[in-house]
Formats: sequence, structure tokens, C-alpha cells
Amino acid sequence: MMVPRRAEACKGSASHSGVHYIKTSQPTTKFEQAQNPDTNAQQASNNSSFVMVCVVIISAFIALCAVESASGAGSGSENANGTSPPFVVPSQSVFLDPHSFAVLGPDGAFRNASQFFTPGASASIAPPYFQIFTQEFLDVLGPTPSLHRAAHNTTFAFAHEAPIWVPATDEIFFASNDGGPLGMSDLEHNSQVSKINLTAAEAAIKNGVEVGYTEVRCGSDPPFLFIHLYLILSTRRLILKVPLSDAVQMTNGGTPHNGELMVITSGRGSLPPSLVRVHPAPPYNDTVVLDNFFGRQFNSLNDIKVHPTSGVIFFTDSSYGFLNNFRPAPQLPNQVYRLDPRSGSVRVVADGFVRSNGIAFSGDGLTAFVTDTAESGGFLGSNETEPATIYAFDVDARTQAFTNRRVFAYTDNGVPDGIQVDAAGRVYSGCGDGTQVWSPTGELIGKIFLGTTSASMAFAGPGRLVILAETAVYIAHIAADGLPLQDF
Ligand SMILES: *[C@@H]1O[C@H](CO)[C@@H](O)[C@H](O)[C@H]1NC(C)=O
Ligand SMILES: *[C@@H]1O[C@H](CO)[C@@H](O)[C@H](O)[C@H]1NC(C)=O
Ligand SMILES: *[C@@H]1O[C@H](CO)[C@@H](O)[C@H](O)[C@H]1NC(C)=O
Ligand SMILES: *[C@@H]1O[C@H](CO)[C@@H](O)[C@H](O)[C@H]1NC(C)=O
Ligand SMILES: *[C@@H]1O[C@H](CO)[C@@H](O)[C@H](O)[C@H]1NC(C)=O
Ligand SMILES: *[C@@H]1O[C@H](CO)[C@@H](O)[C@H](O)[C@H]1NC(C)=O
Repeated sequence: MMVPRRAEACKGSASHSGVHYIKTSQPTTKFEQAQNPDTNAQQASNNSSFVMVCVVIISAFIALCAVESASGAGSGSENANGTSPPFVVPSQSVFLDPHSFAVLGPDGAFRNASQFFTPGASASIAPPYFQIFTQEFLDVLGPTPSLHRAAHNTTFAFAHEAPIWVPATDEIFFASNDGGPLGMSDLEHNSQVSKINLTAAEAAIKNGVEVGYTEVRCGSDPPFLFIHLYLILSTRRLILKVPLSDAVQMTNGGTPHNGELMVITSGRGSLPPSLVRVHPAPPYNDTVVLDNFFGRQFNSLNDIKVHPTSGVIFFTDSSYGFLNNFRPAPQLPNQVYRLDPRSGSVRVVADGFVRSNGIAFSGDGLTAFVTDTAESGGFLGSNETEPATIYAFDVDARTQAFTNRRVFAYTDNGVPDGIQVDAAGRVYSGCGDGTQVWSPTGELIGKIFLGTTSASMAFAGPGRLVILAETAVYIAHIAADGLPLQDF
């Protein structure tokens, strides 16, 4: 009974229209309807038999509707014990009470790390939608969150990592997958940095269309009339390739820095991994900031953040260039470095990783988060007994070395790749099934469930999160805010 309604709701979301609100919560209606049959049946017994028959028929009809409504519209209410969520479930969301899947039993549907976790009510809803595991996630979502795919290209992972929002133009810059599946880059071919006009993308979503993605145009933006025509007709080509110099090879991470882009590259072949400043507007000139550790090449630099209170730059190195066949074998441990922009001094602040990856700081600068994506091994394949883990550290007040390492969270799906912290200290990381969100204490409170890998995401103004999902870009409107941009 629930499936047809769900399928109905999902048809819209699965379609290419881009307009797909999954209205999943009407608990008030459900309660009212669930109570109606009893009330009606009582009234019926006091009336003549003819009226009684009519009322009984109507009651039965209402009861049927109530059952239909209860199972179809009351998202997340089909918990193991049949209780309803103790809150109003927001739009496009499903409540997955941890009690309801605590015991799967001998005939349970168990899974591995690459299969999606969609128990109970979420099993028949097409992504994207929000999975709520604890009430705390409501503070992230607010009452009317939305989640839309803004652009996609099934044959090109054009939106991998390095999301950097530029408020002045409301654009997000990002890089295509370097060396991985659908990346269209390898030892012989550089990856691609692109940008999307969020104002235009939002307008397109409002009009029920996707910005889309065709072959990206090089150079400057199309004239406004062109954009407008596309918005009205097919809304394409609002993703533009950013023409960078050859100094930028295999971009894998990036962060805003003093009004510019600070990108981090993995290098390619003998071309060195590097930190590069990029001007975020034509002519997109760039300046290499660092490309060695006392004369030695890094392995393949991965991700970067600026420490919020000191302005010092921290970045991670990993062996994915080698594991994806575009860099020589590693010559250094996979570890975290610190670059003091004033003195130019570079040193190591944390080691002991299999494959250090994403990095982020809490807004007060006291805590550092570093992900270890050991489970994902490039040509070595994946190994589910290896870490897929976010580690937290104290940032030592005097030395800024990372101390007191502890597990912050282990993801249940894929690996935690890029990572961001919001204004309330919650941690977001791109995982195998979308973007997962943990409370400041490390409890998984919810997922922005895409049903596909997201390697990175970035806040783009209050309540707006842009998620890179390899072959797609999603825009979420939620209640949570990112850290102030000037802190980076
Ligand atoms: C039923 O689910 C609710 C909501 O999570 C939970 O608080 C309660 O303990 C459960 N009751 C039983 C009997 O399992
Ligand atoms: C996970 O399970 C699926 C379905 O059984 C299977 O295709 C896949 O190979 C498994 N992955 C791993 C890493 O074992
Ligand atoms: C982004 O798109 C909007 C709406 O089409 C347009 O007004 C604006 O000029 C564009 N921004 C840039 C930087 O091209
Ligand atoms: C996907 O991207 C590739 C590379 O830019 C392009 O050749 C192709 O036309 C795009 N496909 C669609 C459907 O936009
Ligand atoms: C780009 O060029 C301008 C003008 O020469 C210069 O002021 C700026 O520092 C350059 N930016 C970068 C990132 O190289
Ligand atoms: C997976 O990793 C574990 C721990 O490092 C190791 O013992 C095991 O041999 C690995 N398995 C495979 C198939 O590589």
C-alpha cells in the first residue's frame, strides 16, 4: 500500500525536471485520520440501520485512507515498534530511528561498505533526500530543507573536490576527478577546474530545470542574454572551464584565502604537487606558493585549510597519485604539513596515517579533523578492514602540532573524503552515499543521502551547502551555516 504512493512521489524526484519535493511528513493529518474511524463507528451505532450501513461503508473507506496515509505519507513512522517520530519530519526527509534497525535478526538484510543503508521507510524513496537519525539533525535541516541536483554529466566526473565559494560573484570553483573513474585525466592528461554560477543555477532550479552540463566553454562567461536564453530553453553550459596555467596539475583540494582561491595539486608524472594561489576572476592568473619539502617532492598533495585564528596553512599529503597511476611511487610518509605564510617555514604536524585526506578545523581553531581514507586504495582496491575514519586532534597552543589523536567518527559507507565544520561545530564529510553529518561529539545525526559518492562539499552563504558528487552538483538549502569565510 505504501509503495504506490512512494513511487508516485519518487517519480518526480527521479525525473530530470529538478523539481522533486518529497513531502514525507504529515503526522498531524495522520493522527487525525487514524482517529476518525473509531469516532465515526461510534456515531453510526446510534443511528438507523440505513444510515448505519452508509456510515460503516464511509468509515471503512476513511479507515482505508487512514491506513494508506499512515504508511504512505508518514515518512519514517514505520519504525520497528510502529511509533511515530517525536517531531514533525521536515520536507524531503525521512526519520530513521536507530531503535528500528538495532536488530536485523537471522534473516536480516545485511550489507557491505559499498552498499547503501536504506532501512524501513527510506527503502522506496529515490534519492536525493535527508536521512534523520537523531532529533539533533533538525537543527541542521530546519523545517523546510530542500535538496536539488543542479547539474550532471553521466560520463564525466567533472565535480570531484576543491569546492571554493567566491561571494563576490556567487560562484563555486571546483575540480574534476584526478586519475579516478570517469575523471578523464591520467598521466597524460590534466584534470579540469570549472566554476558554476550559483545565482543562475538557483534560478534554473526554481524554474524546474537543471543547469545541466555539456562540453564546458573556455574563457569568459557567456553574455547575459545567452544565459537567459538557456535558462528559458534548455539551461545548459552554465558550468565554465577555468583556464589555468600549466603550473596547476591535478587539482585535488582548495579553500578560500584572502579573497583568492588557494588550490592544492597532486602533480602529474614528474610535475610536482603544489600549493597555488589563483585569482578568482579573469585572467585567472596563478602563483605557485610551495612545491617541495626542502627540495623533496611531496607524494600527491590532497587537501588544504587555513587555520581560523592564526591564518597558518595546513595541508595533507597522500599516495593517491601513485595509486591512480599518475605519480611515481611515494617518497614520503602520508602526513599533515604546516606552512607558516610569514616565515615560509614548512613542517610536519601529524603522521601515522595510512592515507591522510580531508582536513578541517573547528571555528575556535582548537580542534583539527583529518580523515584517513585507507579503505580506498586505488589500484589496490578497497579493503573494508582499513580505516574509513575521521580523527580529531588538539591543536597545540604553542607549536600547532596536532596532539591527543582520537577517533572522531567512522563512516558506515565508503570513505570520509573532504570535510567541513559548520558554525555550531558539527562535522560534514563526503562519503560513499552522500554527505554525512556528525554532532560535535561525533554522533552520526543525519545524512544528505544522494545514493552516490560525494567527495567534497562547501557552504556557500547562510544555509546553503553545495555538494560535489563526481558526475553531479547538488545544492542543499538547510538551516545550518558554515564558518565565517574570512576565517579561512
Ligand atoms: C519505540 O520507538 C520509540 C521511538 O524511537 C522508542 O523511544 C521506544 O523506546 C520504542 N519502544 C519500544 C517498546 O521498543
Ligand atoms: C558488496 O556487496 C555487493 C553485492 O553483494 C558486491 O557486488 C560487492 O562486490 C561487495 N563489495 C565488497 C567490497 O565486498
Ligand atoms: C550569474 O548568473 C546571473 C543570472 O543569470 C547573472 O546575472 C550574473 O551576471 C552571473 N554571474 C557571473 C559572474 O557571470
Ligand atoms: C559530458 O562531458 C563531456 C566532456 O566535457 C562532453 O563531451 C559531453 O558532451 C558531456 N555530456 C553531456 C550529456 O553533457
Ligand atoms: C594576478 O595578477 C594581479 C595583477 O598583476 C596581481 O596583483 C595578483 O597578485 C595576481 N594574483 C595571483 C594569484 O597570482
Ligand atoms: C586488508 O587490510 C588488512 C589490514 O591492513 C590486511 O591484514 C589484509 O591483508 C588486507 N586484505 C587484503 C585483501 O588486502
